[in-house]
Amino acid sequence: MKVDVLLGLQWGDEGKGKIVDVLTPRYDVVARFQGGPNAGHTLEFEGQKYILRSIPSGIFQGDKVNIIGNGVVLDPALFRAEAVVLAASGHDLTRRLHISKKAHLILPTHRVLDAAYEAAKGDAKVGTTGKGIGPAYTDKISRNGVRVGDILHNFEQVYRLAKGKHEQILKSMHYQYDITELEKEWLEGIEYLKQFTFVDSEFEVNSLLKEGKTILCEGAQGTMLDIDFGSYPFVTSSNTVCAGACTGLGIAPHKIGEVFGIFKAYCTRVGSGPFPTELFDETGDKMCTIGHEFGSVTGRKRRCGWIDLVALKYSVMINGVTKLIMMKSDVLDTFDTIKACVAYEIDGEEVTDFPYDITGDVEPVYAELPGWQTDMTSMQSENEFPEEFNAYLAFLEEQLEVPIQIVSVGPDRAQTIERYTEE
Ligand code: GDP
Ligand code: IMO
Ligand code: MG
Repeated sequence: MKVDVLLGLQWGDEGKGKIVDVLTPRYDVVARFQGGPNAGHTLEFEGQKYILRSIPSGIFQGDKVNIIGNGVVLDPALFRAEAVVLAASGHDLTRRLHISKKAHLILPTHRVLDAAYEAAKGDAKVGTTGKGIGPAYTDKISRNGVRVGDILHNFEQVYRLAKGKHEQILKSMHYQYDITELEKEWLEGIEYLKQFTFVDSEFEVNSLLKEGKTILCEGAQGTMLDIDFGSYPFVTSSNTVCAGACTGLGIAPHKIGEVFGIFKAYCTRVGSGPFPTELFDETGDKMCTIGHEFGSVTGRKRRCGWIDLVALKYSVMINGVTKLIMMKSDVLDTFDTIKACVAYEIDGEEVTDFPYDITGDVEPVYAELPGWQTDMTSMQSENEFPEEFNAYLAFLEEQLEVPIQIVSVGPDRAQTIERYTEE
């Protein structure tokens, strides 16, 4: 049996949570493989709205097992806050949520370090979510991390050692902080975590595959935020690309099946960093207002712009995307013209391969298509799609050379249209 991977192709917030929830009935297991509470995955169904940060988005559909893999960084305090809300709404997780012993913990001092490093960067700050993601992954790579498995052995000693190192760094930076409250909540979170099943998720995942079970891996962030291939240094600290599912869960590359690449019909970015198609006019404001483009974790306004096919083609290539999923089509329902960036003009030259550096003077070259000017939010089938919308889909498929399998026309689970369905 194969493992399918669903991941973001832009700068995050493409709608991964919604589609993982929609696809979950087709799988036995849903697993997160990277990132942490910097993610905010929104699900809407039956008039309810949930935002998940560390818990996989397969948690609401039936009795499916959900796994937090070794590639994830977990903050026990934020995990507890998230799990308590789900438990209160009748979703018992303790039996169905398995956590890798090899996942690294985000310590309270990681959050302080995140803030201190950002402050030290001044105007060049990354605009992180402030959740301690960078410092936690830094400790993992420099072999100073604390893992979930440590909770069961020698925890106090390992924690004290790591915290001590952070305190020294913060002292050397003359950074003022008080973690009393944060640490109290964090230690309560550690106690709370103990009721969950800690697993060797690499063995669990591979045994499930041997039994013929199917797994959907849920990416966090997006390809343009990948530590290697994103708009460095304005990126997150993990590999958000497909290969991350292999290292973040212990899955061999040849076991990867479908790669679902998800993108918005336009483009957004939150935090600092280059964004060639960003709009600073009323068209951008209109996208932001209609699309409710405010961060689900930080509440920050998301920057908006037209779809960027130079960046998207790059993401499709890096991930080996086999099926595309287009989100938030309805947000463009009232636009009379739709633009799509097909090249960048840099120093008077047209570039179609995503360049090493996009921080300089990058001028988008646009193709223009007529808008469909039709309310698509209650459409149920592709047969109802307006002609201009079909033309936009055909244009994108031709450019990206991958079929668009699913189109989303609203935030609700039910507002999802599958194309090319077999009779
Ligand atoms: P994720 O991080 O990739 O899971 O995406 P987020 O949840 O951060 O952001 C996506 C936002 O768009 C959420 O508020 C969703 O409820 C909403 N959303 C998802 N799909 C659609 C859609 O097709 N149309 C509209 N209007 N909103 C959508
Ligand atoms: P989901 O999974 C959008 C951005 C931050 C910042 C950069 C680094 O909901 O799509 P970090 O806290 O990771 O060190 O921040 O990455 N970022 C996201 N942007 N969606 C996300 O997750 C993000 N997670 C991190 O805004 O620019
Ligand atoms: Mg999000």
